[in-house]
This record gives sequence, structure tokens and C-alpha cells, in this order.
Amino acid sequence: MNHANEETLLQSAVAYAKQAGDLIRGRVGNLGDIQEKKNVSDLVTKVDMLSESLLRSQILKDYSDHWILSEEDNGTLNSYEALQKKGSGLGWIIDPIDGTTNFIHEVPHFAVSIGIVRDQEPIIGVVYNPLTEELFHARKHFGAFRNGAPIQAGKETRLGESLLAAGFQAEEWGPNSHLLKQMDKLAGNCRNLRMNGAASLDLCWVAMGRLTGFWHSGLHPWDTSAGVLIVREAGGQVTDHHGNAYQLHHDTLVASNGNIHSEFLSGIQL
Ligand code: IPD
Ligand code: CA
Ligand code: CA
Repeated sequence: MNHANEETLLQSAVAYAKQAGDLIRGRVGNLGDIQEKKNVSDLVTKVDMLSESLLRSQILKDYSDHWILSEEDNGTLNSYEALQKKGSGLGWIIDPIDGTTNFIHEVPHFAVSIGIVRDQEPIIGVVYNPLTEELFHARKHFGAFRNGAPIQAGKETRLGESLLAAGFQAEEWGPNSHLLKQMDKLAGNCRNLRMNGAASLDLCWVAMGRLTGFWHSGLHPWDTSAGVLIVREAGGQVTDHHGNAYQLHHDTLVASNGNIHSEFLSGIQL
């Protein structure tokens, strides 16, 4: 596919994200039923489903030959199985609301995340927070942007001056978790820690330097397909917890401005 066509795909992704964002913004405080998926901290609302079906129908209308992987339609497949089933070619990976718990509690920090991949490699990423109207995007080899202006990952060079964020995977929410032990190890060794509740936005915040780094286990391709490209295009680095270049089926993710990456990786090894 040539560059002009990728630009068209990007414009479509931006348009769909904004349409879904308008729908979600109009439903804050009017959620419909809330359902638990795995537990009380893993939730889905009627609005997640409406946003997903809007996104799916727009993509199918304009790009009927592309595949779609979306959170609420995925069933019980794990990330590896889900991606394998979709195969090669151009595909759209969508999270209709990333940060559903924030959405339910009216914390203004959630997003629509749309990643476009070719042969499983992200080539376009769009993340849109409908309440702040911040829109992040990237195209592979063409840089990363916030509301149209280029962004760069932060300049910190040491873990000690880094602001880091993390999040609990639903299965891990409880005492003595791996994450709590990692946080205990980092406490006092970085500037501070945050838990913001929307992985796609955490990645964008690393990309624009609000955060120096972000780590998580158990994320899915719909959480990361857009944000990972946005971090990389902003000059940051994304690996798994062992330092291997991040792939969408990986179970662990470490994103940073690049400068602190090896110190960060050591900092979370238990
Ligand atoms: C969740 C958010 C959260 C992360 C969870 C994800 P959802 O996505 O990205 O920040 O910690 O692991 O599942 O369920 O709100 O789309
Ligand atoms: Ca998500
Ligand atoms: Ca979601």
C-alpha cells in the first residue's frame, strides 16, 4: 500500500474515533446496565457495546476486505489465539472504551483506541479522549502527534527522576500480587508512581513526556496496538519485561522514553 492510501486510512481512523467519542461523551452518567466480566474490577457497559458496533459498522462499510479484532467481540480467545485467527493483511484492532472503570465513575480519563496493522505490525494508531478532546495519532515512519502537533518522549535520563505508571490486570487484583511487589521495589527509587486506569492513554502520555515510563502485565492487542506505535514514533521504546521488542501478543509490556529503559527493566525484576 502506498503512502497516500495510508493517509486515507489514518483519516478514516480519526473520523471513526471522533464519532465513537461523540457517542460516549453523550452517555457519561447514562451508562445503561453495567456487567461484570471476570470480576468486580473488569466491567462492560451498554456504551462499550454501542461504541464497538458503531466502529465495526463504519470499518466494514468502508473497508469490507479488512479484518477487525475488537474487545467485546473477541470471546475467550487469548491474545495469541485472537491474532493468529485473524492472520495477515490489513486489520483494525479496536478498544471501544479503554478505561471503562473510569468511564463508569466519571473520571475524565478514558479513550477510544484504534490501531491498524499490516501483517500484525502496527502502521497507524489513533487514541482519542472524548472528554479532554485530546487526539493522539501516529503513522509508522511519520512521527507521533497530539492534536496535530508533533510530540516527543520525555528527556529524563535516570529512574530516580522518572514519573512511572502501572495498572492491575483484572486477574491480578488482590493482595500479594506481582505488581504490588514491583511497586514496593520501585518505591523511593523513582520520582513517583501513578495508576491512571487507561493503558492506551498511559502509552500516549509516555509518548508526549507526561510520564517517563509505563509497565503492565496481561494487556491485550486492543489496549496496545495504537499506543505502542505512538510511543515508538515519539522516540520512546516498548519491550516486554525481558527487554524483547514488544509484539501484540506479548503478556508483559514496558514502555519508556528510551533513556531509562534498561534501568526501568532492572527496577521491576523481582
Ligand atoms: C483496561 C485499562 C486499564 C488496564 C486494564 C485494562 P478496559 O481496559 O486499560 O488501564 O489496567 O488492564 O483491561 O477494560 O477499560 O478496556
Ligand atoms: Ca482496554
Ligand atoms: Ca475496553
